[in-house]
Amino acid sequence: MKTRISKAIFPVAGMGTRFLPATKSVPKEIMTLVDRPLIQYAIDEARAAGIKEFIFVTTRGKSALEDYFDQAPELESALRKAGKDDLLEILKTTNMDSGAIAYIRQQRALGLGHAVWCAHRLIGNEPFAVMLPDDVIAAETPCLQQMVEAHAETGGCMVAAMEVPPSKASSYGILDIKDDMGSMVSVKGMVEKPPAGTAPSNLAVIGRYILTPRVMNNLNQIKPSAGGEIQLTDAIAMEVTEGRPVYGYRFRGERFDCGSKAGFLQATVAFGLARPDLRDEFSGYLQQLLSMRDAAQ
Ligand code: G1P
Repeated sequence: MKTRISKAIFPVAGMGTRFLPATKSVPKEIMTLVDRPLIQYAIDEARAAGIKEFIFVTTRGKSALEDYFDQAPELESALRKAGKDDLLEILKTTNMDSGAIAYIRQQRALGLGHAVWCAHRLIGNEPFAVMLPDDVIAAETPCLQQMVEAHAETGGCMVAAMEVPPSKASSYGILDIKDDMGSMVSVKGMVEKPPAGTAPSNLAVIGRYILTPRVMNNLNQIKPSAGGEIQLTDAIAMEVTEGRPVYGYRFRGERFDCGSKAGFLQATVAFGLARPDLRDEFSGYLQQLLSMRDAAQ
């Protein structure tokens, strides 16, 4: 069953309070991992998966995001005059074709499900992707591309999934597994942030989704649940209840929780070490740091 996934929703309306004071004036998604803002990683992954239309669900105070994806004529002409073609090339990745990007405002913080629902008029009657830029995934084949390929065989709804320690399950959406096929599971239920000790499995939802347009209708019907918010997890679980297929996809790659300080730091180290232009200097520094620490103990 081949369905083309050409639209992706990026919910970016969160206040980023975990990163205050930085996020007082800088949107969380503009914070940089090495030299690229978080949102750029998500956009690159979406492009690799064949996404052509990018829908941002934003809120007040996020105008830096809109500027980031706009052209910068003065900067570009200064670089051109100076013959800095390498930098012009880097800037190109931030440009969007006219009409390929849309911004919708979520006026009230009613939850992730509500943020996704805010884009329903732009989605129409097509399956679509949702990407949470906080979840940065390092992978040889970008995660969403892996999912689009798997989804071409299954149809239905698909969420990225990863095993988490039982003590962490209450921070995630958790899958109730029907059949485990290895790289994929079929799902008989999903629960958002289950209280400690009640999680139906250790398989957590990570922020990549391929969803049918019915999920938008479900979002219109469900009531707030975990944290008093309208949860995307509940709208996907409703598909299961109504007898339609939902899959969890165990992606190949390493996921970093850039919504937390520790996760952001880990990603910074991992992405820094993966960069050919920084690797030697940075790993030398880390080794020196560790040996100084060992010597002091
Ligand atoms: C969101 C989703 C949750 C998912 C998580 C992955 O939660 O609601 O189901 O497991 O992203 O990062 P949040 O981290 O926004 O609380």
